[in-house]
Parts: sequence; C-alpha cells; structure tokens
Amino acid sequence: RTARFTLDPAFTVGEVNPRLFGSFVEHLGRCVYTGIFEPDHPTADPEGLRTDVLDLVRELGVTAIRYPGGNFVSGYKWEDSVGPVEDRPRRLDLAWRSTETNRFGLSEYIAFLKKIGPQAEPMMAVNLGTRGVAEALELQEYSNHPSGTALSDLRVEHGDKDPFDIRVWCLGNEMDGPWQTGHKTAEEYGRIAAETARAMRQIDPGVELVACGSSGQSMETFAEWEATVLKETYDLVDYISLHAYYEPLDGDVDSFLASAVDMESFIENVVATCDHVGARLKSKKKINLSFDEWNVWYLSRTEAQVSALDWPEAPRLLEDNYNVTDAVVFGSLLIALLRHADRVTVACLAQLVNVIAPIMTEPGGPAWRQTTFFPFAQASKYGRGEVLDVRVDSPTYETKKYGEADLLHATAVRAEDGTVTVFAVNRSRTESLPLDVVLNGLDLTSVVEHSALADADPDARNTLAEPERVVPHTVDGTALDGGRLSAVLEPLSWNVIRLA
Ligand code: AHR
Repeated sequence: RTARFTLDPAFTVGEVNPRLFGSFVEHLGRCVYTGIFEPDHPTADPEGLRTDVLDLVRELGVTAIRYPGGNFVSGYKWEDSVGPVEDRPRRLDLAWRSTETNRFGLSEYIAFLKKIGPQAEPMMAVNLGTRGVAEALELQEYSNHPSGTALSDLRVEHGDKDPFDIRVWCLGNEMDGPWQTGHKTAEEYGRIAAETARAMRQIDPGVELVACGSSGQSMETFAEWEATVLKETYDLVDYISLHAYYEPLDGDVDSFLASAVDMESFIENVVATCDHVGARLKSKKKINLSFDEWNVWYLSRTEAQVSALDWPEAPRLLEDNYNVTDAVVFGSLLIALLRHADRVTVACLAQLVNVIAPIMTEPGGPAWRQTTFFPFAQASKYGRGEVLDVRVDSPTYETKKYGEADLLHATAVRAEDGTVTVFAVNRSRTESLPLDVVLNGLDLTSVVEHSALADADPDARNTLAEPERVVPHTVDGTALDGGRLSAVLEPLSWNVIRLA
C-alpha cells in the first residue's frame, strides 16, 4: 500500500504564474469593514487599515486581489466609492441584503494593495449586471488615464495623482447565475462582454480581460455557456473564469476529501471547450483560465442567513470556521491548480478576511490564522517555479460522488535554483500512507524539511479563544537516499517536503 511517483525535469507541466496565488476582497459581510479596514482599531494606520491584518496578508503571500465582487459588483456604482468620504452615499447592496456605506472605496483598495507590497496587484471587476459599456469605460478612464480628461483629473482632484495602472479586469461576475442581479443568457452576456472588451481595448489595447465562465461545473448551462460566450469574445479576451466551492454534504466526508477530482475535471473540461472554440475559429490564440473564486464553503448553511437580513452594515456573514479536514481538502485544491499551471494562470482564493477566509478578525480585537492559512502560505512561498509532471501510482478508496479515487494527491514544483518542493495530501482518514518517489536527473541530496498539517482530531480548528490550536508540525524520518525519497504521510494530512 505504498504510493509512488517519479520526478524528472524533462517532464514538466509549465511555469507557475505568481497570479495563481491571488485572493479576493468583496464588499460582503466583514471582509472589508472590521476585516481589512477598521479606523478605530488599536492597530489601524492613518488610512484606517488594520496593520495586524496587513501583516497576516503579507505572510499569506497573496498576489492579485480581485475586487469589489463577487455578486456585489452587479449593483456596484464605482462613482459612489470615490471622492470625499463624507459625500459618499449609503446604498442598498441587493446581493447581500446589506447597507453599503462606501466608507472604503476604490482609492482605499489601491492604498491597501500598495501597503501589502509590490507582489500585490489589482484585479478589478466591472458591473455588467445593472450597468454596461459606458460605465466600464468611465471606471477605466478614472483609474488608468494619467490626466488631462474630466475623469482622470477627477481622480487627481481626489488625491490620487498617479494612475492606478489596473491591468486585469473581470467583465462582470457569475452572469450565468439566476441569483445574479442582471443575470443574462449566454448570448446576451457574450454580446455585452464583447462590446465592453472592444471598447476597453480602444482605451488601452494592453488590458487583460476575463470573461465570465460558469459559476460551477454543475450549472445546467455549463460548457454551452463557455462555448457561446467565447464565440463572441475569443479575440477580445484573455481568460475565461471558473468558480468552485466544496463542502461535505450529508456527512459524506470521503467524497469531500476527493473534491479536487471535480476541480481537475472542471479545469480540463473548460480547457477542452476553449480549445474547441479556438479550433473552430482557426485561431492560434489560447484562452487561459482564471479560477477566480475557489475554496471550501459551507454554502448550504449560509443561504438562509442572507435572506433573513434587514439591510445591516457589515453583518457577520459566511464566517466559516475551518477544521483540519477542510484544510486538507483546501490543500488538495491548491495541488489541483498547480497541476494545471500551464492553463490556469490566475486564481483567487475566495475570500481574504472573515468571509470564507484564511484570516479572521474580531472587531476591536485580534486577528488570527485559520487552518487553511497554512497550506496557502506554504504553496505561495515554495510553489514558485516549474511544475513537474507528477503521475501517481496510488492505492485508492471508494467515494460515493467520484467512484474510486487515489489516496495520494500530489504535485511538485522545481524552483529556479534547482530545489524541489513536493506538495502531497493523504486522503485516508485512518491510515498512514508510505510514499516512494524516484528522482531522475535531479541534483538533490537532502530533505530540507517535511512539514505536515494533521491532527488526531480532524475537527480541530483555530478560534478566538484558541487561535493557535492547529499549526503545521515537522515530520521526522523523511529521507532522500540514492535518488529516492521516502516518507510516511499521516492520515488526513497536508504535506510540504522540501528537497535540495
Ligand atoms: O465568494 C462569495 C460569492 O460566491 C461571490 O460573491 C459570488 O461570486 C459567488 O457566488
């Protein structure tokens, strides 16, 4: 019952784009207010940003941050969110039945990114639900044009002399979903996305544009939606989006642990659809994938919560508290993204703070790391370079949803300096999994570290009362001898094995 694979630098998947480690800040619940922004907090800087959260965001290693939604963007009026704070209107946010104060807006978002550091990059969504081409162009001009026009001068007047230089733009959000304000058919969306893209490229041919794909592989319109949208937009956009959330349903933890089987098939099906449209258009261009919402989300528990709301400000919404099992699934989703790094060149963990997030905060109180924080931080730190093609030969187990699934889910990334990091998940809830890896043509002689996230209690989690209950630990006994790596993966574990 040993799992095996071979690593060979001659067989690779592709280079990891740093944007694979993106995240997402939506005006939803407490992601913004009392999450990243809380002017009265003891750690707040002069701009009202929580510096304790900024420190954790840096440690997490996020790159592109998508903003301002999400479902929120389909009612977003960008002009409400700029200019003097005292003049900004309060608005109904239909998506989350909340009141949006606009105290935090576009300029504050850009300031937040700058404070994270040079690795953080904006990824702005435009409203194609209740608005259209004109408003997208106005937002682009306000944000990116240097000066000398009404909207760019308005930005300067608002105190932002330098353009925001937003390169990546999402053309709406989940427009295939009936829940979306201004929901559209694929034909309707394909047209408005194409017209918006064409016009935005008239301002700047260099912008990178993301067309909305399906909100999930299980949507009835899945694949037909992508094909129809891409027929209209193929030459005008760079990416198609994918969204996926996973949770254990009816207590079926074994299927939940194999969620990445679904994620990988979703990616492969979207790649096939993009390439099919490209082939029909006789195009040499390839559309890449922006997996711009992914996570574990206990969605079935939160739906009723939203409909019961009576327009509060920044309510506690979608504040899932992740346990060890969730973190192992989460790590496996990261592995799935890395395994497809040739075509998934943008990905955003949804979301960043408080709302289905790796970082939690208490208003006026501390900020802490959820269990899912660790796999993300480690993957972002050590998953940079070239992904090696890992074909596992693994013992399997039976799942209700996906049939027979491998107990081992793994990938490996080779950094520029030749060091290699193996990321591996053992999906067995009860058994350790011996691992045997043959290293071909790699000049590696030692195990730098084997770190694991696992616990005798799969339900263990970090909370306000016990913020460091779950942290990764070092595993002893992992060895590299004569070009062979041998390790034992604990039951239900996320593993990072660094080789030099
Ligand atoms: O991330 C939470 C929500 O999930 C987003 O607003 C929406 O795009 C998706 O349905």
